[in-house]
Amino acid sequence: MQNIIEAKNLVFEYYNYDDDGQVKDSVTALNHISVDVKEGEFLVILGHNGSGKSTFAKHLNSILTPKEGTLIVSGIDATDKKNTWDIRKQVGMVFQNPDNQIVATIIEEDVAFGPENLGIEPSEIRKRVDDALETVGMSDYKKGSPNQLSGGQKQRIAIAGVIAMKPKCIVFDESTAMLDPIGRRQVMSTMQKLNKEYGITIIHITHYMQEAILADRIIVMDKGKVVLEGTPKEVFKEVKRIKDIGLDVPDTTYLVYLLNQEGFDLPIDLLTVEEVTDAICQLR
Ligand SMILES: Nc1ncnc2c1ncn2[C@@H]1O[C@H](COP(=O)(O)OP(=O)(O)O)[C@@H](O)[C@H]1O
Ligand SMILES: [Mg+2]
Repeated sequence: MQNIIEAKNLVFEYYNYDDDGQVKDSVTALNHISVDVKEGEFLVILGHNGSGKSTFAKHLNSILTPKEGTLIVSGIDATDKKNTWDIRKQVGMVFQNPDNQIVATIIEEDVAFGPENLGIEPSEIRKRVDDALETVGMSDYKKGSPNQLSGGQKQRIAIAGVIAMKPKCIVFDESTAMLDPIGRRQVMSTMQKLNKEYGITIIHITHYMQEAILADRIIVMDKGKVVLEGTPKEVFKEVKRIKDIGLDVPDTTYLVYLLNQEGFDLPIDLLTVEEVTDAICQLR
């Protein structure tokens, strides 16, 4: 399968300035990071705060451009600022705070905002808005105000706004972090539907391990680099390494790790409660 993202040796630095406008110091947020993402893949990015996840995400739809390295997004050179709009048509972003992403007072107008910015015909915009609201299960609310919605519903409106631009890939930067468990489930199932039914590539940055186990592949970032990569089973069996960089593993994985330390001999790549139960029953 083709790569939708090809990032090689990306370097990005933020500069902090003093009152005279002189550079005081700089922070290397991406430190020669290389990541490929396949078209249609569901990728999860893990990493503690400050590891560079958001900085990397912002490169994927040209909010930021790298200082060094190469970045190809859907075949387009993303190191060249003149390609910004072409890239934004291909890769959409959903952010953490649902309230910061809603711009209009009527839901259907909010969803229309992105395609309007792309200069799409009004009749086509109306169709896209209806389709997008249908996809996220929010058609009944189209004439309403976003103010009355729950956090999960607001995120689904934000997602509809992105889908209406027909991207090939959507990056969710901790888009479930501020939601209650119901909202998180709604957003996760929307993400899975977009991936499985519409073939949209999903890149999901999250702290929830239960969400991470749903990925095709996980990358773990630390200090602006990828330090661990693989399927959820491959990544989460590295319990000690993950804990050493300050992250958690799923409770199930940790349970098996502790049982094995107590002398059990369970397979170390179990993720679900059912898998763990089966493995323990086989010991009887
Ligand atoms: N606008 C900014 N100005 C200066 N430093 C920043 C800015 N945004 C992020 N950083 C720094 O860059 C590093 C990576 O941040 P970020 O990409 O936000 O990490 P994450 O999303 O994993 O928490 C951190 O050290 C952070 O403090
Ligand atoms: Mg972040």
